[in-house]
Amino acid sequence: MKGDITTEQVDVVVNAANTSLLGGGGVDGAIHRAAGPGLLEACRLLGGCATGQAKTTAGFDLPARWIVHTVGPVWSGGDRGEAELLASCYRESLARADEVGAATVAFPAISTGVYGYPVEAAARVAVTTVRAAVTTVEVVRFVCFDGSTRIAYERVLDEPLP
Ligand code: APR
Repeated sequence: MKGDITTEQVDVVVNAANTSLLGGGGVDGAIHRAAGPGLLEACRLLGGCATGQAKTTAGFDLPARWIVHTVGPVWSGGDRGEAELLASCYRESLARADEVGAATVAFPAISTGVYGYPVEAAARVAVTTVRAAVTTVEVVRFVCFDGSTRIAYERVLDEPLP
C-alpha cells in the first residue's frame, strides 16, 4: 500500500534506522518526529544495532504500540552479502514482533532510500522473506511512500509463487 508509515494503526511499525539508532532522515526521521522525544531517549539506552539486526522500543506518540528498529545494508553492488543482510532485517523484525505478541506489522521499503538498494530487488527480498517466515504475526503491510516503490512491490507480489 502507499502511505505514511507513521500513521499506520498496527501493533508494530518497523523503522529503517542506522547503527547508532539515534535518528536520521527518511523514514527514520519521520518516525522520530511523529513518536516524539521519548523515542530518542529510549533509543539511547539500546547501545546501537548491527546491520541485519533489530531492536524494539515502545511506540510513544505513534498509533503503533511498538517500533522495531532494524538496520538495512548499504547497497554496494550486490556482491557484499547485501541480500542476506536485508533478508535478516525482515526475519529479525518479525522475531521481535513475535516477542511482543504483535498480530499486525508495517514495514517500510528498508534500504531503498539513502542506502541505495535497488527497489525491485529489495521488494523481492522483502516479499520472499516475509512469505517464508515462521511467525505468529497475522498481517504484514508493506507501506510505500511513493508510487514507484508501490509499483515495484505490486509487481513482485503479483509474480507466480515459485
Ligand atoms: N513512511 C513510509 N516510508 C517512508 C517514509 C514514511 N513516512 N519516509 C520515507 N519513506 C521511505 C523512503 O521513500 C524509502 O522508500 O522509506 C524507504 C527507505 O528509505 P530511507 O528512509 O532513506 O531508509 P534507508 O534507505 O534504509 O536508509 C537508512 O537513512 O534516514 C536515514 O537514519 C537513517 O541512516 C539511516 C538511513
